[in-house]
Amino acid sequence: MRDLIIAIDGFSSTGKSTLAKLLAKELGYIHIDSGAMYRAISLYALENGMIDGNQVNEFELLPQLEFMDIHFELNPDTGKNEIFLNGENVEEKIRAMEVSSKVSLIAKIPEVRSFAVNLQRKMGEKKRIVMDGRDIGTTVFPNADLKIFLNASAEERAKRRYEELLKTDTPATFEAVFQNISERDHIDSTREISPLKQAEDAVLVDNGKLTPQETLAEVLAIIKGIS
Ligand code: CDP
Ligand code: CDP
Repeated sequence: MRDLIIAIDGFSSTGKSTLAKLLAKELGYIHIDSGAMYRAISLYALENGMIDGNQVNEFELLPQLEFMDIHFELNPDTGKNEIFLNGENVEEKIRAMEVSSKVSLIAKIPEVRSFAVNLQRKMGEKKRIVMDGRDIGTTVFPNADLKIFLNASAEERAKRRYEELLKTDTPATFEAVFQNISERDHIDSTREISPLKQAEDAVLVDNGKLTPQETLAEVLAIIKGIS
């Protein structure tokens, strides 16, 4: 099989990272969760007091971007490519609701997007990559070999994320999770730069009633068809 770049986009909690991780394992590829990068930048801004309510202090944050070390390392125990911010593994910290509630504000800042997109393109230089996010098929890799757009109902997505957070140190109510997902979906799909939308050549997969393994099987069948 030739080397591929696989782009997976979609709304929050549709199972993009789950699918990307399973696909990468199956194909021996690298998985990059691009959302984790925007979350890491948001964590940095929060920890350094650069966010007040819905206001991001761009004058303080933007000059810091070039000094930020954001990279991924494979955790052999979990099989997950985990994110590091300035030397610290922040894989769990970035999933807290405090970060979720600010990340879409950070991700719509043009300079933040170009910083993250540059890093993402570098990571894909050698192909053999599965990257998931919002704009991977439309902006980061418009020539990706395969583009998947995942979807599921808002209720199902909130239920998934709520159950996931229950297993962490930072659980939240179903209502708070549902509201956060709806707000992010709105900001992400209406922002000026690289809004979340299905690329014209993306394959739509609705996994509302599918398990992660069933979703994987559906996408592997698509890959068989193109390679
Ligand atoms: O896991 P979940 O779908 O909830 O979100 P995520 O993939 O971790 O992404 C967090 C946020 O980062 C999204 O709500 C977007 O605001 C932003 N994001 C983006 O703008 N572009 C991407 N390629 C990936 C994420
Ligand atoms: O990356 P994204 O925000 O799109 O979603 P995710 O983090 O991959 O998945 C969110 C949650 O939904 C996780 O707890 C997954 O295990 C779960 N999930 C599921 O229940 N069924 C699927 N078909 C896919 C994901």
